[in-house]
Amino acid sequence: MNARESATRILEAVDESGRHYRDSLPMIASENVLSPLVRKACDSDLHGRYAEGLPGKRYYQGCEDFDTIEEIGIESAKRVFDCSFANIQSTSGTVSNMAGLKALAEPGDTITAVSTADGGHISHARMGAVGVRGLNLITYPWIESRMEPDIDAAAALIRETEPSLALFGQSVFLFPTPLQELADAAHEVGARVMYDAAHVLGLIAGGQFQDPLREGADLMTGSSHKTFPGPQGGFLLSDSDDAKFMRKINSSVFPGVCSTYHLHHVAGKAVALAEFEAFGPDYAKDTVANAKALGAALAAEGFDVMAEERDYTASHQVLTRHGDPDSGTGRDAAALLEEAGIITNMNMLPGDTKAMAPSGLRLGVPELTRLGMGVDEMQDVAGFFASVLIAGDDPAKVKQDVSEFKSGFLEVGYCFEPGPAYPGL
Ligand SMILES: Cc1ncc(COP(=O)(O)O)c(C=O)c1O
Repeated sequence: MNARESATRILEAVDESGRHYRDSLPMIASENVLSPLVRKACDSDLHGRYAEGLPGKRYYQGCEDFDTIEEIGIESAKRVFDCSFANIQSTSGTVSNMAGLKALAEPGDTITAVSTADGGHISHARMGAVGVRGLNLITYPWIESRMEPDIDAAAALIRETEPSLALFGQSVFLFPTPLQELADAAHEVGARVMYDAAHVLGLIAGGQFQDPLREGADLMTGSSHKTFPGPQGGFLLSDSDDAKFMRKINSSVFPGVCSTYHLHHVAGKAVALAEFEAFGPDYAKDTVANAKALGAALAAEGFDVMAEERDYTASHQVLTRHGDPDSGTGRDAAALLEEAGIITNMNMLPGDTKAMAPSGLRLGVPELTRLGMGVDEMQDVAGFFASVLIAGDDPAKVKQDVSEFKSGFLEVGYCFEPGPAYPGL
């Protein structure tokens, strides 16, 4: 393939990928679609620009209009997340965490966090940002049946190990963290508390999950593109009134971990924040209602849905188990579902030790909800799962049914100008 052919082939694959998602049920819990206005901001001249610094204090000329954008975005973020400080520059949830770890811990310090086996994110692990910052990691005792830290044991661990930073939040995140008691223990030993809301940020802002900044978190980080439905990027949020602390957070983002911080995405985030002010609470409520409905519907179809005794979920996620730990049955189920036009991810569940051969699936409803599906449609979605994974129907045939079903849900809602979710395809 010559260079021109490479470019052509790449653009064909871009469209193929879009059509794949258009015709499927995208159920990756960390994904979402852009509203038309957010897409417009992202696809702008800002894509090529730099604005190092903060509004009004730039190292480059040409930033006057971007100052307006970032200032409006910061003020919206403070209202949406009900906080006194917002940095909207970071380019992802991981980058937000790197900035938070830089601001709140020094190399060699001890940090407590949720282990990746219990649902913590790789950026909370030695293989990720925690390791990059050279921190000594201790993980919380965990209650598998409740999918949350063992409060008493975790509080005792914090008091005993006296970390500089207690980090909370997960990638597998069904239920709110019992934060207040653990934050109290952390503050007692002089530790800062950071809550990683990457997955649940939109649910928090919409009043549907927990309120970490009122429950003891000094800093909340998050992605801007999961349950918060903006472009890919991140936030750092705090309700502190300590000017020095806020300066430290800002400087840990720039110049700490970002030089350019993707101005087109900052503009997209600012538009998404404005849309969230108008539509976010309804979106968050509908997302959680759909996840609960999906959990119940899958259980009714005969699936082993985690946390039955807690009504399956209080977030945007549902977990299903498909066989014995380490059996690879989650991986096999994900592959079969994709053949049927349902995009999910395999996931380790309690007892699994092999990340590439787990027994579980993690399912998310943020995108389906944004496209207008409600609790009734969750019954249909569960029916497709049962058809492929329980009845053993031909995935190619189910794929046609899924595609036809999906053709009724191609418009992004919860935004100022609802429009095509997969434009131009
Ligand atoms: C808890 C948690 N933190 C951080 C991240 C990283 O976010 P990003 O993909 O925006 O870097 C994720 C990603 O899913 C996550 O689940």
